[in-house]
Amino acid sequence: MITGVIILIALHALSGIFWAGSTFTLARSGGAGSDALFRPQMGAAVVAVLTGVGMWHLLHAGNFGLGEKVLAAGTLAAIAAAGVQGALHRKQPAVAQRIAGGLLALTVVCMVVARYV
Ligand code: HEM
Repeated sequence: MITGVIILIALHALSGIFWAGSTFTLARSGGAGSDALFRPQMGAAVVAVLTGVGMWHLLHAGNFGLGEKVLAAGTLAAIAAAGVQGALHRKQPAVAQRIAGGLLALTVVCMVVARYV
């Protein structure tokens, strides 16, 4: 199991960092270049979600204490970020990246503090 967790958390952190980091950068640049990054971002989002769900099953299945609630809040924020990017990336790229950036910042904070609450 530990090998599986190590592989999943490595893929999770890499994909999450790319997704959130590119979103923060695009929010700062007013969405310039967001078309070229849309598919890689959504690919990273899919990997982050799937590896996150995998880790949940391996590490948290059957528990729903405060730590899991914080992880769940971060998960909901990430899913909302993907929805906003998917819905608005063509019509309002700057708005899409700014809203998604805020949601993904919340996700990262939830993910990293969950084990300490
Ligand atoms: C969207 C669905 C997501 C789910 C279901 C999910 C779930 C999880 C789970 C279960 C863990 C393991 C916590 C533990 O060690 O017990 C975790 C850790 C982590 N997640 Fe996510 N996550 C998601 C999205 C993201 C995203 C988008 C990012 C980054 C932007 C992210 C960043 C992290 C980081 C950095 C950790 C490691 C925290 C630590 O060990 O201190 N996650 N996530």
